[in-house]
Amino acid sequence: MRNKVSIIGAGMTGATTAHWLAERDVADIVLLDVVEGLPQGKALDLLEAMPIIGKDISIVGSNDYQATEGSDVIVITAGMPRKPGMSRDDLLFANADIVRQAALNTIKYSPNAIYVVLTNPLDVMTYLTMKVTGLSHQKVVGQAGILDSTRMRTFVAQELGVSVENVHCYVMGGHGDDMVPLTHVSNVAGIPLDEILPKHKLDAIVERTRKGGGEIVSLLKMGSAFYAPGLSVTQMVCAILKNKHLIVPAAAYLQGEYGLRDIYFGVPVQLGRDGVEKIIEYKLTDEEMKMLKVSAAGVAENIAKLNLS
Ligand code: 2OP
Repeated sequence: MRNKVSIIGAGMTGATTAHWLAERDVADIVLLDVVEGLPQGKALDLLEAMPIIGKDISIVGSNDYQATEGSDVIVITAGMPRKPGMSRDDLLFANADIVRQAALNTIKYSPNAIYVVLTNPLDVMTYLTMKVTGLSHQKVVGQAGILDSTRMRTFVAQELGVSVENVHCYVMGGHGDDMVPLTHVSNVAGIPLDEILPKHKLDAIVERTRKGGGEIVSLLKMGSAFYAPGLSVTQMVCAILKNKHLIVPAAAYLQGEYGLRDIYFGVPVQLGRDGVEKIIEYKLTDEEMKMLKVSAAGVAENIAKLNLS
C-alpha cells in the first residue's frame, strides 16, 4: 500500500512542501486548507505536472478533513506568517488556535500518524500538537533545525567557496533569534568551523543564521520563506517513511537531555518510521550550554502562556 501524507495549510509553505514531496515520489499527497478552491487548485496544478516527471502519484486538494483519513504523516503548516518587524513569537496566540484545530481535526482520522509541525512559533506549536493529539512525544516532531542548518551551510559554502556538500552545520535551540549555531561540531570536510574561519567571519555567519528567517521576511515584505522550509520538512518526511534512521536537527520533546525537561526544543534527533527514535547529546562548551539555556527559557515562557497542562 502506498504511503499517504496530508499537508495542512495550502499556503506557500504547504504547497511548496507538496511540490518537493511529489518530486520524491514517496507518498500520495492530500493538501488541505480552509480556503475554498485553494488546495484543490494547487493540488490539481501539481498533479498535472506529474506526467512530465513520470510520477504516478495521487495529489488531492480538499477543505474536508475526512480526505486526510489514514495518513501516515501529517504535516502542519497552517498559520499566519510573519510580517516585517514581527518575531515568530508574535504569532503565538493566533497560530495556537489554528494549530489546535488542525491537530484535533486530523488525529480523529489518522490516529497512527507521525506529525511534523512547521507553524511558528515552531517549538511551542509542536508542544501544542503533542498535547492536543495525545500522541506519544516520539510521534510529534518539529521542523526547524534542518532549515536553520541549511541556511548556515549556505553562508559557509559561499564564504569559503566550497561545495555545499562539504559543509555540515548543526543549529540547536529554539527556532528564534536565540537559536544556537554550533561552531565546533559544524565542519567543512571534517575540519571544525572554528578552526577554518576567523572569528569575525564566523560571528557574522552565526548572526546571519540566527536572523535568517527575518532576512527573507524583510525581503519579501509579505510572507516568509517557503522553499527551504518546504524542503527541510520533505527531508524529514522521507526519513520517516523510508525508516532511514537519519540524524538531523529538529524540535523534539526533552526529558532531561541537555538539562532540559518538558519542552520541545531543537536538538539532533534520529528519525525513522516510528518518528523520533533517539535524541543525540553533543558535548557542548559551557558557552554553548549558556546560550542554549537562554533559548530554552524563551520557549518555556511561551509554552507557559498557552496554559496547556
Ligand atoms: C523561517 O525561519 C518561516 O520560520 C520560518 O523562515
